Amino acid sequence: MNATLLKRLFRAIQAGSKLDMDVLCQRIVDEEAKLGHGRVAEDLAKILQPSKQGSNDQAKHGHLSRLPTSRRDLSPLVQDVATEQLRHEMVLPEGVENRLQRIEREFAARTRLAKHGLKPRRRILLYGPPGCGKSLGAERLARNTGLPLRKVRFDTLLSSYFGETMSNLRTVFDAALVTPCALFLDECDTLARSRTERNDVGEVTRITNGLLEMLEGFKGDGLVIAATNLDSALDPALFRRFDEVLKVPLPGIEEILRLLKVTLSAVDIEPRIPWDELSREMDGMSCSEVVQITQNGAKRCFLEGRKKVDESDLRHALREINERHNESH
Ligand SMILES: Nc1ncnc2c1ncn2[C@@H]1O[C@H](COP(=O)(O)OP(=O)(O)OP(=O)(O)O)[C@@H](O)[C@H]1O
Ligand SMILES: [Mg+2]
Repeated sequence: MNATLLKRLFRAIQAGSKLDMDVLCQRIVDEEAKLGHGRVAEDLAKILQPSKQGSNDQAKHGHLSRLPTSRRDLSPLVQDVATEQLRHEMVLPEGVENRLQRIEREFAARTRLAKHGLKPRRRILLYGPPGCGKSLGAERLARNTGLPLRKVRFDTLLSSYFGETMSNLRTVFDAALVTPCALFLDECDTLARSRTERNDVGEVTRITNGLLEMLEGFKGDGLVIAATNLDSALDPALFRRFDEVLKVPLPGIEEILRLLKVTLSAVDIEPRIPWDELSREMDGMSCSEVVQITQNGAKRCFLEGRKKVDESDLRHALREINERHNESH
């Protein structure tokens, strides 16, 4: 077993941090499975089950009943996603991957950092083009830190009543102080858009300033993650309030190649696929489109009764996506 993991587990036990212990145990299970020790991984996972069940029950009955709600009609302002349901496999350029890992490592070492008067990065802004992993990145950060992902529901948070959006936002941030979570403001530009639609400049300023203030004053034990694909829509002052502003870019050719291989890893493929050439032809596409191409290609193969995905399946799916692009432009 990985010595670093073992040391971290010992530290978590020493510090009495149940959250860290759960995350590290899950990591050990994942590591064992990766090493091909399926049996050990399965046995270890079974041992973990009762405690996970416990935390699930807590999610269902304990803190769900304390989900922040709007004062007017008590509709929930957030949606919690349990850690085990979160996806974490991503293909990213090395620089972006390193920065995400740094956030996770700092969180894991937060008690040690505090001894030196240092704080982990807790306020994260993910921005970049659609379909490249902002929402997925939030899931992965939550999963790797062991925090439940708490998605802010803009449908219930935004209110046309004067001042209510602000008070809802305050309720959500206050609740994050009580329940450690990865508070996720996905497509946070919705806040800005809603204001301009209503054309109420006063309310616009109030909500922006309110969010800035809440970000600045955030003292929760978890993370706040915001995502947007409109870097221009965000106030420059908002950028300053984050500890980490991370661009999640379009995949380069190397990432496209890795994505193709990773998403096809569970199916049989013909040996002579010109991977480099196909990846170059997908240059400029989002990760989501590349994943769609591989999945559509594989479906075409199996529906035609063949067993191995080949170049023509992928080219067919690629052509379809290109045609869709051309139609929409
Ligand atoms: N970096 C990545 N690695 C692996 N798969 C990815 C990656 N980025 C996106 N995907 C795939 O594309 C899907 C959509 O990605 P995601 O929802 O994270 O995009 P987004 O950046 O949040 O887009 P939007 O701006 O439209 O909200 C994911 O569910 C996943 O299947
Ligand atoms: Mg998204």
